[in-house]
Amino acid sequence: MEKNTFYVTTPIYYPSGKFHLGTAYTTVLADTIKKYKKQRGYDARMLTGLDEHGQKVEQVAIKRGMTPQEHVDDMANQAKELWKKLDIEYDDFIRTTEERHTKIVEKIFNKFMEQGDIYKGEYEGWYCMPCETYFTETQLVDGKCPDCGREVKRMKEEAYFFNMKKYQKRLEDFYAKNPDFILPEYRKNELFSNFIEPGIEDLCITRTTFDWGVKVPKDPKHVIYVWLDALTNYITALGYMSDDDTLFKKYWPADLQIVGKDIIRFHGIYWPIFLMALDLPLPKRIYSHGFLMMKDGKMSKSKGNVVYPEMLIDRYGVDATRYYLLRTFPYGQDCIFTPEDFVNRYNFDLCNDLGNLLNRTIGMVNKYFEGIVPDYKGLVNDVDRDLQDTIVTKIKEYENNMENLHFATAIEEIWAIIARANKYVDETAPWTLAKNGDTEKLEAVMANLVETLRIIAILINPVMSQTAEKIFNQLGIDKEEYKQYDTINKFGKVTKGIKVIEKGEPLFLRLDSAEEIEYIKNHMK
Ligand code: MSP
Repeated sequence: MEKNTFYVTTPIYYPSGKFHLGTAYTTVLADTIKKYKKQRGYDARMLTGLDEHGQKVEQVAIKRGMTPQEHVDDMANQAKELWKKLDIEYDDFIRTTEERHTKIVEKIFNKFMEQGDIYKGEYEGWYCMPCETYFTETQLVDGKCPDCGREVKRMKEEAYFFNMKKYQKRLEDFYAKNPDFILPEYRKNELFSNFIEPGIEDLCITRTTFDWGVKVPKDPKHVIYVWLDALTNYITALGYMSDDDTLFKKYWPADLQIVGKDIIRFHGIYWPIFLMALDLPLPKRIYSHGFLMMKDGKMSKSKGNVVYPEMLIDRYGVDATRYYLLRTFPYGQDCIFTPEDFVNRYNFDLCNDLGNLLNRTIGMVNKYFEGIVPDYKGLVNDVDRDLQDTIVTKIKEYENNMENLHFATAIEEIWAIIARANKYVDETAPWTLAKNGDTEKLEAVMANLVETLRIIAILINPVMSQTAEKIFNQLGIDKEEYKQYDTINKFGKVTKGIKVIEKGEPLFLRLDSAEEIEYIKNHMK
């Protein structure tokens, strides 16, 4: 049987510098939902990539003494290395300098030209000579260039524009019929009050002040400006308008496009309009997440408060890093990073709650049953029943939250199972059962605990796949069929007779809080 498809995209990143922990968040989100959907039986596909054209990229290349192509090649390698380190399982990595993209951007431009969607006019804005960049009135800082702080000049240049106004009504109608197109809802409301209700402005889509980009066919002094070039990556990567558009037919429209709140305007207005102009269906959902902030505001090199994911991964592991991001960011909102918070989450959630549950369970199965997990007995008493009921309820809530992109809450549901299981150990007091020779009950408790941990490992898999694998390993679960999502509702049926590891390594070693907080602070850059 054909599987249902699920196509998720991240924005394509500007290769203008090293990616910090905030920028990594978008990609970790996309990867997590992709893995979850895959677990649930979908043919899930994830796209990420780089937005390699434009003046900024050209300028960074010059600073590095490289050609723009050399620079972006290097950045593409760096990005791929980072995604590997972060356990990101993307299916395609698109670079806007690739021919599979540039050729189609030209075709799209021509199509829009022929349809009368594009016209030639004059672009006017505040221009910074040394930076060779235009800024809008609102981008200026105290009337000066926001990048270098120097004087700006009012300038005009000939440019091509996309007639956005023509699509205003269609866009409004689309939103009226698809109220959940943009999530969270308040972001959609902001878009409406700030940009759609006042009247959508036409978009300037070319520049003549730089060279690094796709040239306008038949008018090559104009370079196609970033947004038309960038947004179309989501479909060029699938082979849209190419000789082979099998992937496009299979995966478009995207099920989910994830973007940070700073670029929701482009994805909520211009992107849908470009798609309407191409007569293509719109993505089903666009989720806009908040920003990772520091106590003193944005992360910035000049403040020396930038957290790079590599630093956390090298010291605390990729799973702890991913866990932190997914658990801490509230739905749609900003999140403030503090070293204290990171270390606490590590010590309490990972080390105490999850790590100890596994450790105690393995220890007891070894102590009381020489490592062989006793057969599942069914529900022996009320505590067993309550443990199982909690698991069933929490799994449902976890699934709802995952489907609705409430990742932090979804993870909390898993931790509620972990907390219930830890409480179950205290309530059943296996050491007393052993002392009293109550073997039947003791067997039931052990089987229930192993089974709960197996379910937990399956649930955390999209977030922390290495830890999930370690748990399976320590429990002695090596059959793939025991690791499948659809077995989590078959409580107790699959762990019969397995042998747990004799001495399990702790999943997470307890950190010395003060020392590690200092470490993180000293490694911000
Ligand atoms: N190139 C454009 C996107 C084009 S998509 C057709 C771009 N690139 S970016 O490199 O600046 O940003 C990449 C992603 O990182 C965006 O989703 C952006 O919102 C996100 N973030 C940038 N800083 C961030 C934080 N501090 N926190 C969370 N996400 C952040 O925009």
